[in-house]
Amino acid sequence: MPTLTEPRTARIRCRDGDHTLVLSDREATAGRLLDASRRHSFDPDVDVDWDVPQDPDVFYLPPTLVSLYETPLWDALSHRERVELSRREMCSIASFGIWSEMMLMQALVQHAYRRSYDSAHVAYALTEIADECRHSVMFGRMVKTCGLRTTRPNPLMYQLGKVASAVNDPLVKFAGTLVVEEFTDAFQRITFPDEDVQPIIRQVTRIHVIEEARHIRYAREELKRLVAAVPAWQRRTAAYSLARSTALMAGHFLHPSGYAAVGLDPRAARRAAAASPHRRATMAWSFRKCTAFFEEIGFLDGRARSVWLKAGLLE
Ligand SMILES: [Fe+2]
Ligand SMILES: [Fe+2]
Repeated sequence: MPTLTEPRTARIRCRDGDHTLVLSDREATAGRLLDASRRHSFDPDVDVDWDVPQDPDVFYLPPTLVSLYETPLWDALSHRERVELSRREMCSIASFGIWSEMMLMQALVQHAYRRSYDSAHVAYALTEIADECRHSVMFGRMVKTCGLRTTRPNPLMYQLGKVASAVNDPLVKFAGTLVVEEFTDAFQRITFPDEDVQPIIRQVTRIHVIEEARHIRYAREELKRLVAAVPAWQRRTAAYSLARSTALMAGHFLHPSGYAAVGLDPRAARRAAAASPHRRATMAWSFRKCTAFFEEIGFLDGRARSVWLKAGLLE
């Protein structure tokens, strides 16, 4: 069992030695996040200009973030086809975002249900659910405004999502939240300041980055408390199942129809992306904040680390 060495720190036992975690006060953290939410929350209905023109030659995602960038398949595409692939991939990421936000909202309800209803911690969980509700509506509207329809994740992920949503497992849920939020955040932090990206995408991703920073803080602080409260075997089991889910997700979050839309064979295109050194480096880079934090809290301990390495997600 991890031991409390002094108030607000905990020592956890990892294969590479002991790690000390600094634990924040649950209510104080939530209070600060509630304050920040009051000051900086957005209403996409009024804070996004949905009618802004979309230039057919302008990318929907910085080209460096498109899965085939710097591959022979990319080199063979025309400029308009590259733009089209970026539109498809951006909308695919938004669709994946809605799916993961739905899972997160359910996890937050389960978490809040078991705690004191008048606490700041529960008030913030409910506030975050409200944020995610607005985000999912915003992403759906963005996809439609870009002239496409949302897509569902691949059938295995879709069915696993149903099962996972029925189980209350805060350790995996908060860690899973971080995985998705940190990796999409990395993509969006490059996207919204880029003046060569479609203005509508820049507006939506900017709102998302600002509001997600709070969610990441909430998940990180809660995850440290949860890790400090369980024995090492339980943490390693959660870390391993999370690593497996992350590897599956990283290989399938883009819908294959995007490749077909630009005349490519989806299987060959997926293989090309998986083998691309640029893509592998981009994916590992996008997970870097998450994996550094996981290292600290013992979530790369044991068998989990080899899963992350094998999936090419650890720098
Ligand atoms: Fe969100
Ligand atoms: Fe979030």
